[in-house]
Amino acid sequence: MARTPIESERSHVFPLELARPMPVVARGEGVWIEDVEGRRYLDAMSGGSMASTLGHGRRDIVAAARAQAERLAFVHNERLTNPAQEQLAEELTAVAPEGFTRARFTVSGADANEMALQIARSYHVERGEPDRWQVISPAQAYHGPTMETLALTGRPGMHGPFVPYLPTHLHIPPSSWRFDPSGEAALDALDRAIEEAGPGTISTYFCEAISAAALPGYTPPVRFWEGLAERRERHGFLVCFDEVVTGVGRTGQWFAGAATACPPDLIATAKGLGAGYAAIGAVLAKQHVYDAFANGSKRFTLGHTWDGAPLACAVGLAVLDAVRREGLVERVRERGAKLRQELADALADVPMVREVRGHGYLLGVSFVDPRDGESFLPPTLRVGGRIDAAAFEHDLIVLSTQPTRDGYAGDQTLFAPAFVATDEELDEMVSRFADVVHEVAKDVEPELDREPIWTGGGR
Ligand SMILES: Cc1ncc(COP(=O)(O)O)c(C=O)c1O
Repeated sequence: MARTPIESERSHVFPLELARPMPVVARGEGVWIEDVEGRRYLDAMSGGSMASTLGHGRRDIVAAARAQAERLAFVHNERLTNPAQEQLAEELTAVAPEGFTRARFTVSGADANEMALQIARSYHVERGEPDRWQVISPAQAYHGPTMETLALTGRPGMHGPFVPYLPTHLHIPPSSWRFDPSGEAALDALDRAIEEAGPGTISTYFCEAISAAALPGYTPPVRFWEGLAERRERHGFLVCFDEVVTGVGRTGQWFAGAATACPPDLIATAKGLGAGYAAIGAVLAKQHVYDAFANGSKRFTLGHTWDGAPLACAVGLAVLDAVRREGLVERVRERGAKLRQELADALADVPMVREVRGHGYLLGVSFVDPRDGESFLPPTLRVGGRIDAAAFEHDLIVLSTQPTRDGYAGDQTLFAPAFVATDEELDEMVSRFADVVHEVAKDVEPELDREPIWTGGGR
């Protein structure tokens, strides 16, 4: 049996971070996971990446998967369809925002995003506007690890050595409190990007409706969404939302895009659709997008082997059933606001905490330099990494990032529990997290004396 945590030298796995010892997790139940030595962690991150929305160890989902696998696990959707795919498309479009009538299934969030871009581009070609190909997106985002989805972020820190492979896209800054509280600066940047590229070349505006790890819990001000809707109307591009994280209940609505003043034309979704029990995503299209194909070539043939496979779709159906039956969208909506307040109260006396924000169970804590209450913390202090390491010591799983050098956000932590967490478990998560932040803040504050204020923000 592997001892835990396991270092890369003792493993044949090619891990993500070779210098980071990994706990070897053997089982899970609800919001608890347990490593091979019996140490239990409280999972405030739905499996670490916001996928396990229904918690671990769900016998009902496993039973649905098993029943489907016994009947038919796989057929390819190029020439064959299957009842699970048909029914999931029907049920998913029924809970999607108004006007969404079609679903194409994928295997992951990144490939749902890529496919949404391909559908958007093809839509314009089908309608006789082949010059429309350019994509505009906010710089501080995350859309996946593939070349195209990496290129969709304007973050050099993520692009690393892959720049030669990445297509160039147009980016605008996020309208966070620091740079653009009204949303007008982002709209000006959008206008400039449209003007410079030529309005007739724009295919799509692509963004997260509410951000996940890149800017946890952030959404632009209403004025930005209104302005985006005006520009879509004026210039004829499409709006695609990356709802890989926010889809299927995470923010207390089935889809976060429904509540913005700029409802999208395309949605990419993934994590909560499989709830960690199957690798499944989907692109949802409004009827007018589908019509371009129905009235045109009648083809959009790209896809992966496992897209729409019965096994994954059966899991998706069981997940939707559980979310509906257990009233989890409502639970997340109601309890999320209270959870955010509880986090804010528990961290109120930490000068390093600037903001606790978010919707439903997609909450973010942003940290600043306590000396002026607004500059990013010096990245050399590695506050995000220290928070995650201290959380492990407290048997708590959260996820912090430190995109400071990219210029739009500093150290920040994402807090995204499973929808099934009990009140007591949520209280325990808040209490452990508050202990962690207090502990790290106490360590960091004296170290700040040796560091100049970081002036790299707001490029
Ligand atoms: C907002 C967002 N989009 C896309 C992705 C990529 O999804 P996947 O890892 O399933 O490809 C992620 C993954 O974390 C994400 O958070």
